[in-house]
Amino acid sequence: MVTKDTRIAILGGTGMLGSDLVDSCKQHFFDVIVFDLPEFDIRNSQQLKQAVSAADIIVNCAAYTDVDGAETEAEMAYQVNAEAVGRLGAIVQDSDKWLLHISTDFVFDGRLDAPYVETDLPNPINEYGKSKLAGEQLLVESGCRHCIIRIEWTYGVHGDNFVKKIIQRAKTAETVKVIDDQIGSPTATTEVADIICKILPKTPTGIFHFANAGYVSRYEMAKFIIDKLSTNVNLLPCKTGDFVSAAERPLNSRFDCSKIKDLLDEQIEPWWVPLEHFLRKL
Ligand SMILES: NC(=O)c1ccc[n+]([C@@H]2O[C@H](COP(=O)([O-])OP(=O)(O)OC[C@H]3O[C@@H](n4cnc5c(N)ncnc54)[C@H](OP(=O)(O)O)[C@@H]3O)[C@@H](O)[C@H]2O)c1
Repeated sequence: MVTKDTRIAILGGTGMLGSDLVDSCKQHFFDVIVFDLPEFDIRNSQQLKQAVSAADIIVNCAAYTDVDGAETEAEMAYQVNAEAVGRLGAIVQDSDKWLLHISTDFVFDGRLDAPYVETDLPNPINEYGKSKLAGEQLLVESGCRHCIIRIEWTYGVHGDNFVKKIIQRAKTAETVKVIDDQIGSPTATTEVADIICKILPKTPTGIFHFANAGYVSRYEMAKFIIDKLSTNVNLLPCKTGDFVSAAERPLNSRFDCSKIKDLLDEQIEPWWVPLEHFLRKL
């Protein structure tokens, strides 16, 4: 049973999601302990064992997240996102604890003409997605009690993300081109953190999709940001193919979040509500 005395280890607890999760856990009066680089390396088995033994529940937000970088550093991405996660699973299994692991929409190829449900077949199209899918699979093979929350299109105060990039470009350029053929759900890391805190007491198992409600293109998301900032920048729609990037990205990132809504028995906030709040705070 999870009580206020339950100690939660947050791996990757100084990253974009991890930082908001630490704050959220504290607001929910959970006892948290943070592990992250440079003191803690998830690839180090000894450090992993210490992290697991220090807590009752483990939340893994640590990951190699440079999507383009993973194309040239595939080995590193695999070590962090797959091998280390498999080892973490084995340690959690040995200590009979429960793990919540964060994964991504990038396990899918984005070719489905519908929102993805948890049982849809993954088929990653870049090295980052392949490494994250391998992590999910090794976790299942470890036999430990766990759940996987796949998230998408996240933004937060503590990291580089699409929202900050659009704001930055709007300040420095007269015209900004944004892709209108990638569709998903902008999702605040504060919202992910809040959902995780609601899930923790339930210690469910299996895969869950979570994103803020509603679907938009990157262009529509950028337009919302620009409109709220009231800047005069000229926003132009373009296609994914117009940009050169090392990694291919899925065009469809839509999630069906019915499973997590049923688990929590509550509605999910529409994407524009936390985004507007985030812009006001910035
Ligand atoms: N951002 C998105 O749009 C997005 C979308 C879908 C899913 N996700 C998933 O969400 C989770 C959280 O990512 P995020 O967005 O918060 O990214 P992030 O800010 O890059 O956070 C990842 C954290 O993991 C740490 N880390 C990297 N290598 C490590 C290692 N070897 N040992 C220990 N810690 C290590 C990073 O430290 P350094 O900063 O020092 O490298 C960072 O603190 C990840 O599982 C990611 O795959 C993110």
